[in-house]
Amino acid sequence: MKKLKVAVVGAGIYGINHIKAFSWNKDADLVAVCDLNQDILDGLKDGFNVNIYTNIEKMLEDEDLDAVSIATPDFFHMEPALASIRKGKDILVEKPLATTVEDALMIIEEAKKYNVRVAVDYHKRWDPAAINLKNELLKESTGVPIRGYMNMDDIIDVPTKWFNWADKSSPVHFLGTHCYDQIRWYMGCEAVSTYAVGTKKLLKSKGIDSYDTIQAFIKFENDCYWTVENSWIYPSGFPKNNDGRTQILTENALLRLDSQNRGLEFYSNTKGQTPNSYFIINNNGRPYGFGIEPINDFVDCIINNKSFIADGKDGLESLRIAEAVHSSLESGEVVKIKR
Ligand SMILES: NC(=O)c1ccc[n+]([C@@H]2O[C@H](COP(=O)([O-])OP(=O)(O)OC[C@H]3O[C@@H](n4cnc5c(N)ncnc54)[C@H](O)[C@@H]3O)[C@@H](O)[C@H]2O)c1
Repeated sequence: MKKLKVAVVGAGIYGINHIKAFSWNKDADLVAVCDLNQDILDGLKDGFNVNIYTNIEKMLEDEDLDAVSIATPDFFHMEPALASIRKGKDILVEKPLATTVEDALMIIEEAKKYNVRVAVDYHKRWDPAAINLKNELLKESTGVPIRGYMNMDDIIDVPTKWFNWADKSSPVHFLGTHCYDQIRWYMGCEAVSTYAVGTKKLLKSKGIDSYDTIQAFIKFENDCYWTVENSWIYPSGFPKNNDGRTQILTENALLRLDSQNRGLEFYSNTKGQTPNSYFIINNNGRPYGFGIEPINDFVDCIINNKSFIADGKDGLESLRIAEAVHSSLESGEVVKIKR
């Protein structure tokens, strides 16, 4: 069987997972990697047999590719996405698809025009606990959902130490879009309106103009009301880089999902840690877990002509909610989600 020839654009903290996933996937041939940072590219030379580029246009010109995977910063997804689409490549884009609805629509329109497909890496849809929860929701005996709560929070090191573009993104784009997509997937319908409040204090005092926390109240078409909380200021001492919980009350049931306690506790003399054993772990060098599965599925769906589990429309709908949340934060009003 012909292997899928792939390139990765953006080889930072998360892009390296794409690189590892493709290089272990027996149906993929990781041909090239593009990043602006020459040190990162030089570091790849030993471990991976790939051609390296600092310019995506040159890479697209020189290489014979089937697909491109994009893991650049949140605000820089559209340019590599459009460049790849216009060369006829299927794309996998890290969440969020873009940072505005307008840009997301442009990506989707161009993909239609060039007859290529867009997948978005909403990896929470591959979390075994989330799949289990979704299956319970699908059972008639569970009854219709009435109220939902979800939080997803990062320790303060993420916006202050991990990368330098936090003020060009927000907890809504970085974390909220994951939640909005997940809730749409659980509910099986779209959001209709939102009211959101948020605080800009701590990060602002550290020179980062972004929200510390955002709480959004979201009404869905099925009349289920959700509260979604996202923050970027959990204390550094929290035993995991992020925290997440979901609770759904239905006619006949209460469903709870705990993303914090994932089976392993580790205590040293200085810190306790509760790593997520199911997300991305190193299994004798091979990357393994629900953070890797969407990348493998991308390859499988293209080779076997299957629908993507999360596609461009999912990326767009999640952004519609994100844009409405930001708009409500600014206006203090309930915002209807336009389509
Ligand atoms: N860090 C995480 O835990 C995490 C988890 C899931 C998803 N993501 C998503 O993955 C994406 C990347 O996040 P990250 O944490 O890896 O960021 P990062 O800053 O560590 O990496 C981004 C990389 O993109 C490169 N880059 C920037 N502009 C470029 C350009 N024009 N051409 C080529 N390369 C360019 C940078 O040099 C950098 O190496 C984001 O959209 C983020 O939301 C991150």
